[in-house]
This record gives sequence, structure tokens and C-alpha cells, in this order.
Amino acid sequence: MGSVVFGVWFLWAAAYAMTLSRCYPNTCRSYCGNITIDYPFALQYGCGHPGFRDLLFCMNEVLMFHVSSGSYRVLEIDYAYQALTLHEPHMSTCHNLVLGSRGNGFSVEPWRAPYMNPAADNVFMLIACSPRSPLFQGFPGKHLPCRNVSGMGCEDYLSCPAWEMMGHKRLGSAAFFGSGPPECCAVPYQAIREINLTKLQCEGYSSAYSVAPLKVDGPGGWSYGIRVRYSLQGNDEFCGACEATGGTCGYGSDGIRQLAYRQEQGLPTNTIKY
Ligand SMILES: *[C@@H]1O[C@H](CO)[C@@H](O)[C@H](O)[C@H]1NC(C)=O
Ligand SMILES: *[C@@H]1O[C@H](CO)[C@@H](O)[C@H](O)[C@H]1NC(C)=O
Ligand SMILES: *[C@@H]1O[C@H](CO)[C@@H](O)[C@H](O)[C@H]1NC(C)=O
Repeated sequence: MGSVVFGVWFLWAAAYAMTLSRCYPNTCRSYCGNITIDYPFALQYGCGHPGFRDLLFCMNEVLMFHVSSGSYRVLEIDYAYQALTLHEPHMSTCHNLVLGSRGNGFSVEPWRAPYMNPAADNVFMLIACSPRSPLFQGFPGKHLPCRNVSGMGCEDYLSCPAWEMMGHKRLGSAAFFGSGPPECCAVPYQAIREINLTKLQCEGYSSAYSVAPLKVDGPGGWSYGIRVRYSLQGNDEFCGACEATGGTCGYGSDGIRQLAYRQEQGLPTNTIKY
């Protein structure tokens, strides 16, 4: 009796909380340009992991990533390291400064946050933020959140050609005007959890990441883009087994649960995970 009750509870909990998986033959894998789209990502509805649904779109062989802060071009998906590299035209680089608060910055819908976040060694450099920016709340009494991330920061970034073109030729602490806040503030994503230029009252932003253990000298050698780490939350054994046998995982029509599906029998077999 107890085990029946437990079983019912378990079924309910599992159906409610997660994850049945659906194993398809290899119909979900695809390409966009030269980028392979594989589990947990997919271009078709019902394929991939539900945490990554409605995320990637292929337009004229260009892979686009769409979240609440906007659209980005996907430069790379690194399945081994579980990372994506993103870029967008309004992001400043070492050679191009884009002002006017047109940049996307980066934020995701709260439901997606457990599945993806910018990497801890990705630096966001916020440019020309208003002294009234939430970044500088309490300045100069309190510490600024601005700091180097993985050896990358604003002192170096301000030596980029983009800044010389702007008529700025500053080095080191000269980049800090008077006693006011700095004209560039570098932060890791985890420090503010939402790079929103409107909310932060910044004119522009840049983003760079280091591909460990490569150590590149100077901002001209940094990789510009947003490095996003993804994770599947919890174990993903079913999909591992599914893929090992040449299948691919999908999810059910509610877009949330993954449903186990035995292709040979043509009947759904609810394989409960978690
Ligand atoms: C994909 O193509 C682009 C140019 O279109 C190239 O820069 C990039 O290195 C290629 N990526 C891979 C993984 O081959
Ligand atoms: C950015 O912040 C502004 C102002 O607070 C807000 O209206 C907007 O919705 C935010 N954008 C995103 C993508 O959250
Ligand atoms: C950031 O790194 C630069 C270059 O390595 C260094 O000169 C500067 O002092 C560092 N800034 C902080 C706040 O650690």
C-alpha cells in the first residue's frame, strides 16, 4: 500500500516537475550554415530539450539566438564545453565603438535562467554610463562593482583603437574623469544578472571572453562576443542512452515535459526522470 501511494506520488511529482523524454531516430539533428544543431538545441518544435525551445532560428544559413534582450548571431556552439558564442552588431569591440544605447546587452527570461547564463570568465564592459546609473549607486562612498574579469577590464579596453578614434587617448587611471564614476565599468554577469543598457543608463557595451587556458595579451587579442554556458539541470541519462543508440530526444506537446517514446512499438512509454 505504501509503495502504491509512493508510486502515485512519484508519478505525479515527476509528471509535474519534469521530464519524460522522447527518443526519436535521428530526425532532430540539423545544420545551419556550418553549425551543427544537436541536442539539447533544435530548430524544430518538439526536438531538443524544452529549456532551449524557441531559442534558435536559422535565417539564410545564419543561426540566430533569441531571448528577452534581443537577437544575436550564434558564432559557435561548443558541445564539449557546453557553451555558445554570440555576437550582435551593436556590441562594441576593440575596433568599433557603438554608442546611443542601441545594444542588446544580455538578459534571458527568468524561466530560462537555470539553463543558460553568460560564462563566469566573460566580461561585460559598460560604456559611458550616467552618474545616476544603478551601477554607481552610493558612489563614491561605496565600492563600485567594476572590476577585471579573467584579466580583462576597462583599463586595457580603453587603449583600443576604437577609443582613439573617439578622440579619447587615456591610459590607466586617467580614464577616470575627475572624482566621478568611470567612463567604462567592467563586470561579470553574475554581479548584476541583467545587462540592460536602458536600466543601467549606459551608452554602449562590449563583451569579451577568454578561452582558457589561452592567455592573450592586450585587448586587441581578446575574443569579442558573449560566451554563454548552458546546462541541462539534473541528470540527462535518458537522452544519453537515446543518443547512444542513434536517437534524439524531444519533448511533449505541452512544451515542458519530455516524453519517452518507444519508436519500435509506436507507443509512448513514459520514462520518468528525476
Ligand atoms: C564557419 O564559417 C565561418 C565563415 O562563414 C568561419 O569563420 C568559421 O570558422 C566556420 N566555423 C567552423 C566551425 O567551421
Ligand atoms: C530594460 O529596462 C527597461 C527600463 O527598466 C525596461 O523597460 C525593459 O523592458 C528592459 N528590457 C529587458 C529586455 O528586460
Ligand atoms: C586590471 O588589469 C589591468 C591590466 O592587467 C591592471 O593594470 C589594473 O590594475 C587591473 N585593475 C583592477 C581593478 O584590478
